[in-house]
Amino acid sequence: MNASHDQPDTPDPTPDALLAARPHLARHALDGLLLEGVPLAAIARDLGTPTWVYGAGTIRARYRALAAALAAARLPAHVHFAVKANDRLAVLRLLGSAGAGADVVSGGELLRARAAGIPPARIVFSGVGKTAEELRLALSQGIAQINVESAEELAMLSVIAAGMGRVAPVALRVNPDVDAGTHAKISTGRARDKFGIPYAGAAALYAHAAGLPGIAPVGLALHIGSQIRSLAPFRAAYGRIAALVRDLRAAGQAVRLVDCGGGLGIPYRDEPVPSPEGLAAVIAEAFGGLDVGVLLEPGRWLVGPAGVLLAAVILVKRDGGSRFVVLDAAMNDLARPAIYDAWHGIVPVGAADLAAPLSPADVVGPVCESSDTFARDRLLPPLAPGALVAILEAGAYGSVMSSTYNARPLAAEALVEDGRWAPIRPRQELAAQWRDETVPNWLE
Ligand code: LLP
Repeated sequence: MNASHDQPDTPDPTPDALLAARPHLARHALDGLLLEGVPLAAIARDLGTPTWVYGAGTIRARYRALAAALAAARLPAHVHFAVKANDRLAVLRLLGSAGAGADVVSGGELLRARAAGIPPARIVFSGVGKTAEELRLALSQGIAQINVESAEELAMLSVIAAGMGRVAPVALRVNPDVDAGTHAKISTGRARDKFGIPYAGAAALYAHAAGLPGIAPVGLALHIGSQIRSLAPFRAAYGRIAALVRDLRAAGQAVRLVDCGGGLGIPYRDEPVPSPEGLAAVIAEAFGGLDVGVLLEPGRWLVGPAGVLLAAVILVKRDGGSRFVVLDAAMNDLARPAIYDAWHGIVPVGAADLAAPLSPADVVGPVCESSDTFARDRLLPPLAPGALVAILEAGAYGSVMSSTYNARPLAAEALVEDGRWAPIRPRQELAAQWRDETVPNWLE
């Protein structure tokens, strides 16, 4: 199995076990693997590989389940999708029309959310280093809220907003100093992480903000990390923020809302994760009695399980006892295994492959780095050249983190819904990678 920091030491689930736990994926005796009823082989035939495929029905159902869990806990909560997880216009449009707002972390994400039709009143802006230009854009668009992460940023925003004759609705992002118990590279709520305002200084900064020109403090924000697999860190962090709300109010400050961030984990393998109902209960326990509006910024939980990366086998390389299945997808497409040692399920797509006997294989990409390895010792069928596989849970932090390393083009993307599908982004043309480059004239 993958020597990953957080994987249990039990045998990897087989393709059968992975599919049994994922109702949006089904096998068809002739058409092979289906995503929401659409044969993935048909999409590969039309668009080629590698191609990202997202199930709109799955994304919608997950949004509804989360909203229902919050409503059932009697929370006046609103969901702001963390655009960084998947910023394709089609995905933003479908979440926006389902009722979601957006949590953006750059001017680019803000304009993408707007291009997808998400109204400014449903956009919040997070991030540890927003430029003056990005702050001006946010103010001129009149977005709902700017989550300020430092005294320095607060001072900068005050000058900019006052200069524009605007008042910025501000939530102070507080660092609660809680370890989310997730991968170190995606933990954000410990005191030594770069994020948020130190807990001890937050109340004073809030009072200071209330007196600054161009600033209207409206509440507090936090985000302690991503792919969090237990409720305990959420409970600890929300408890600290609730205490801060009480302290601020006791000192005469108005606190209208708390932005609870994202972070809810999903099963990549077969690991247990909290339910949205569980998370809603923890939020209600902390903030239910405080008469505050609640915002949530989930990314991965909404879209991760809905997407696959469809790839074809280039060749199978046998070295001594090992079998290397070399795909046409690589670390430049899906970077998570290379960056975080992340475990992603891999299942065959062809009907015959879905029924064939299994033996261990290393699944790799063609990029010239050993870290370009999707999986080790994974039980898979023989997989001849040309065979298709689907890499699972690729809907979040997948295509958005792609690069063109090794001059590989950005992969095509498609959306499936109700038995139909459509391309949502073409495969990048190779020449598009260097079309805008110039060679200085002294080299000519
Ligand atoms: N809000 C803020 C302020 C964030 O920084 C993030 C994620 C989210 C919300 C959404 O978190 P989620 O619900 O998706 O866990 N590339 C990494 C994940 C990085 C997450 C960064 N911040 C990965 O592939 O695992």
